[in-house]
Amino acid sequence: MPEALLEVKELQTSFPTKDGPVPAVNRISFRVGKGETLAIVGESGSGKSVTALSIIGLVDRPGKVTGGEIRMDNRNLLELSGRQMRRIRGSEIAMIFQEPMTSLNPVFTVGSQIAESLRAHQRLTRAEARSQTVDLLRLVGIPDPDKAAHRFPHQLSGGMRQRVMIASALSCQPKLLIADEPTTALDVTVQAQILDLIRQLARRMGMSVILITHDLGVVAEMADRVIVMYAGEIVEEAGAEELFDRPLHPYTIGLMNALPRLHVHQEELYSIQGTVPHLLRLPPGCAFQSRCPAATARCRADKPELAQAADGHKVRCFHPAGKGEIV
Ligand SMILES: Nc1ncnc2c1ncn2[C@@H]1O[C@H](COP(=O)(O)OP(=O)(O)OP(=O)(O)O)[C@@H](O)[C@H]1O
Ligand SMILES: [Mg+2]
Repeated sequence: MPEALLEVKELQTSFPTKDGPVPAVNRISFRVGKGETLAIVGESGSGKSVTALSIIGLVDRPGKVTGGEIRMDNRNLLELSGRQMRRIRGSEIAMIFQEPMTSLNPVFTVGSQIAESLRAHQRLTRAEARSQTVDLLRLVGIPDPDKAAHRFPHQLSGGMRQRVMIASALSCQPKLLIADEPTTALDVTVQAQILDLIRQLARRMGMSVILITHDLGVVAEMADRVIVMYAGEIVEEAGAEELFDRPLHPYTIGLMNALPRLHVHQEELYSIQGTVPHLLRLPPGCAFQSRCPAATARCRADKPELAQAADGHKVRCFHPAGKGEIV
């Protein structure tokens, strides 16, 4: 496993509500190696985006990180001031979101927005910033980058806007790129192109990537390691190949079976019924019990820990596939 760039330990993030604090992320731990792509998968509401926002210090108020550590280069990012964190966001960690229109300013040309972010972090003359902007637009595969720099966001297609967002994220040469569903708003061909671009750039720049997606097909293409989240917790973690060869958690298997091109070889094929339970109404025992075909009385009484099942493979389940009962 490569040397760690980022280490998340027991991270806990919650949103206060009138019914009590909603534990959107509940004591999760993981690491991202240098140059490694880690995928975070899980259904809607499982805590993927809140995990990402916790790392870059942008959790929506009144939500708040309430525990744990986020370590990068011998610092705990959670102990940094707002100003120090802003500097890290502009230089070491960058994030791209699903819908670039929300992050691009409609009243400025895309070139001026990238140039501005370049100049915010480096001492550059206007001319230098302009030429680096065109280089970046070329790097992310925008045709005619000289002309494209003068366009406004709405004059570009969704795919081109996402390329601009990637160029803008790369302008600070981040060590870590967090991509939260970067392609779900795009059509399938463009999705593949954007993912390919992220993969190539990550490799070329030795950048680590946290890729958030609910699409396991994307995970198979892109990720070195995968964590599967359910109701704010990690339920399975493994190398990507291992996860697809030997998924252990009934939830992971359900997610895989939901993808026709990825049917895993299981005796019983099932899809996951029901929805993620409300975080304030989690049952005692396993959070997945009400949807799980393997659930027993034990699962309704006790909560399984995330435990090592094989080398580099962890699972939170009393009845992982093919393993019998874990005691
Ligand atoms: N601004 C907020 N206010 C209150 N609760 C929130 C807020 N944002 C997130 N949550 C809570 O955190 C949970 C996890 O949200 P999160 O956005 O991380 O899900 P996700 O896995 O990214 O889902 P999706 O696939 O839909 O993007 C939500 O179900 C909700 O209970
Ligand atoms: Mg999300």
